Amino acid sequence: MIPFVVATSKTDPKPIIIVEESNFDEWLTAQSDLHKSWIDSRGFEAIGGKTLLLPGAAGDIEAVIYVKDGDWNVWSLADLPSTLPKGIYAVTAEFTEKEATDIAIGWSLGTYSFDRYKKNDKKYATLMLPKGADKDMVARTVKAVTLVRDLVNLPAGDLGPAALEAAASQVAGEFEAEQGNIVGEDLLTYHFPMVHAVGRAAADAPRLIDIIWGDKDAPKVTLVGKGVCFDSGGLDIKSAAGMLMMKKDMGGAATVLGLAHMIMDANLPVRLRVLIPAVENAISGNAFHPGDILTSRKGKTVEIGNTDAEGRLILADALAAADEEKPDLLIDVATLTGAARVAVGTEIAATFTDDDALFADIAKHSELEKDPVWRLPLWGEYRHLLDSKFADINNAGSGGYGGAITAGLFLKEFVEKAKSWVHFDIMAYNVRSRPGRPVGGEAFTIRALFALINERYGKS
Ligand code: BES
Ligand code: ZN
Ligand code: ZN
Repeated sequence: MIPFVVATSKTDPKPIIIVEESNFDEWLTAQSDLHKSWIDSRGFEAIGGKTLLLPGAAGDIEAVIYVKDGDWNVWSLADLPSTLPKGIYAVTAEFTEKEATDIAIGWSLGTYSFDRYKKNDKKYATLMLPKGADKDMVARTVKAVTLVRDLVNLPAGDLGPAALEAAASQVAGEFEAEQGNIVGEDLLTYHFPMVHAVGRAAADAPRLIDIIWGDKDAPKVTLVGKGVCFDSGGLDIKSAAGMLMMKKDMGGAATVLGLAHMIMDANLPVRLRVLIPAVENAISGNAFHPGDILTSRKGKTVEIGNTDAEGRLILADALAAADEEKPDLLIDVATLTGAARVAVGTEIAATFTDDDALFADIAKHSELEKDPVWRLPLWGEYRHLLDSKFADINNAGSGGYGGAITAGLFLKEFVEKAKSWVHFDIMAYNVRSRPGRPVGGEAFTIRALFALINERYGKS
């Protein structure tokens, strides 16, 4: 279900009058005495982002003033659908196509709520689609962000590996993509030993979800997402506080499904592949142990320093499989480390790549889309922190410092042939509410990445 509330039919909308903050006093002098005294009596402070309802002669709402400061962005009006009285509104200003599209996206996302388990009776205000907006792009973005948020918000009890596979099948089915899933013991047959090891203790079987779509000769874009439907930490068990939010540990998987949905919906001329190792990191008699040495798909042996560093294990096998076909662009997204959250906080995607040109493009689109990223280094001199006495590599960095970097370096060992690779370590969750972004699951990086892939490979 998409909360797509942008009206397009001819109605009688109430205007949202845009007034620049710096221009407010001048604007006010030109208003009617009724409105002047109303604004005065409200003690209205003309600060960017604020709104004020203007009364009509009959006591109804005649218009809304919106004070604008700075450039338009996707979140500029995202608070309005929930704060304005129910009704239909229209923005009167002139917009570029991007601005108009962003405003409609933000407005629509401002009506998002996760109401599967608790009814939400809130009524939202409706916006006429701003002139010049790309309606398909609005629908595409809102649908993808909604999908990601919903998947992250679903509790682990209702979204285990099998249910995540079903969600992926729904996305694949919508666009007639090919899907091959490798489940349970078959992971051993088809050489995904670390996906099997991490997920085998759970009642819901581990699996590798593999979706392929598009012209086989088109540029290969491959997305890999961490699909840990619940991360208990395994035998190196997490604390209660550390475990509480771990339903969101499939946030990377949700993100790449959302991005894949956008790419297929836009029919971008790429050969898309989505790989999602989907597991629950559970505790049982057959759980993998600290000290175990696993042989990965790539053949490298991995000593388990900590079973809670499970994401990099399942991603390593998925990345190795992705790498085998030498993709042009390989992107992985994962709720990989607490250390990334210490480094850049909860609202920025920590970004790792050795490809400077790729990062420059990511940074550009991140800025344009207000989809924040910050680059951290794949600092080779820290590789020794992953040394193991008896195996090729340890899955947990020693010493406890630079944990997001050592996690990135671990993944790097499994990517060799891809022309370009980037790794995102994300929160996948809003811990505070902001306009258009309620507390709960969040789609980090997808708007920036869609813009990048569209620019690089889209039809011009
Ligand atoms: N899923 C967690 C990382 C995580 C924790 C992301 C909190 C966001 C918020 C991951 O599987 C994990 O537990 N990583 C460990 C690795 C350590 C044992 C080397 C971590 O970050 O502490
Ligand atoms: Zn973990
Ligand atoms: Zn995890």
